Amino acid sequence: AKVGIIFGGKSAEHEVSLQSAKNIVDAIDKDKYDVVLLGIDKDGKWHLNDQSSYLLNEENPKLIQLNKTNKGVAIVPGEVTDQLVNLSGSEALGQLDVVFPILHGTLGEDGSIQGMLRLANLPFVGTGVLGSAVSMDKDIAKRLLKEAGISVAKSVTLTKNKRDQINYEEVKTKLGLPMFIKPANQGSSVGVSKVRNEQEFNAGINDAFLYDHKLLIEETVIGREVECAVLGNENPIASLPGEILPQTDFYSYESKYIDEKGADLAIPADLTDELTKKVQEAAVEVFQSLNCEGLARVDFFLKDDGELVVNEVNTLPGFTRISMYPKLWDISGISYPELINKLIELAIE
Ligand code: DAL
Ligand code: MG
Repeated sequence: AKVGIIFGGKSAEHEVSLQSAKNIVDAIDKDKYDVVLLGIDKDGKWHLNDQSSYLLNEENPKLIQLNKTNKGVAIVPGEVTDQLVNLSGSEALGQLDVVFPILHGTLGEDGSIQGMLRLANLPFVGTGVLGSAVSMDKDIAKRLLKEAGISVAKSVTLTKNKRDQINYEEVKTKLGLPMFIKPANQGSSVGVSKVRNEQEFNAGINDAFLYDHKLLIEETVIGREVECAVLGNENPIASLPGEILPQTDFYSYESKYIDEKGADLAIPADLTDELTKKVQEAAVEVFQSLNCEGLARVDFFLKDDGELVVNEVNTLPGFTRISMYPKLWDISGISYPELINKLIELAIE
């Protein structure tokens, strides 16, 4: 079968996607699948095979450095559609049997590419349009989780048009200090700030609005950062949980991908059997509450009293060398190549 790997993209997580795609291309069973590379550059232009291999060049020094000019929000939908028309014209999509869209963030994880692939009548790895869209938007995801009786951090949602109505003292009284400010639709902690005073609060709001028209101001949840990988469609299974042990102020973009000493990972997390089971059951419940399919990584805070608070859900989690998702399956008995095979099988079942 011909598998199209779509990677790169206009989002702020372009560089992360290149790393993820590279690992997936390396691990894919080449006897079973013919790989067709479809690279999307930062301008949104599509590149086929040879032309796109430059996007996966490991030597590229800019590979994982966050490009602050690439905000991933100034997107003209028409541009992508034009490229798609060109691409369809070149029969690039028509020749494929299945697609692995390894695009993180805007347009890749928010239902956009999923809608395009559905229209193109192509099966694809991962969550569909609705689940992708609601999981990507931290504001909407939290509302759905709350309705399902799942704990989430207390927060205030702010849209750009109501920027002037936000009052630091009121928010501080409600959420306490420090607080976190994050764009509603963004990944890899891009645009996230930890704020301890009014000046940082204002700067954090300005920064988050560079990436999205909507942001969340969240309380700090004191607890261990525990993550769980979920795999499957109707009857998903959960991996052993892992834990992030941040060495910096918080698990920022830099600590994730740039700073070598940014964070340690405990794989698996040091948890009792009982807590492990609790995390796994909660992860599957979250997966199903948000209409996820194929795969997702569910990130929790585990409080001292054993309560689990969902931080977020990643429907296209990272597959970089430091990424939890494939590592959690590896220690749970599914090797990297087997995992990629399973994900593709789940897409076409
Ligand atoms: N958003 C990044 C890729 C992750 O969740 O791993
Ligand atoms: Mg994320």
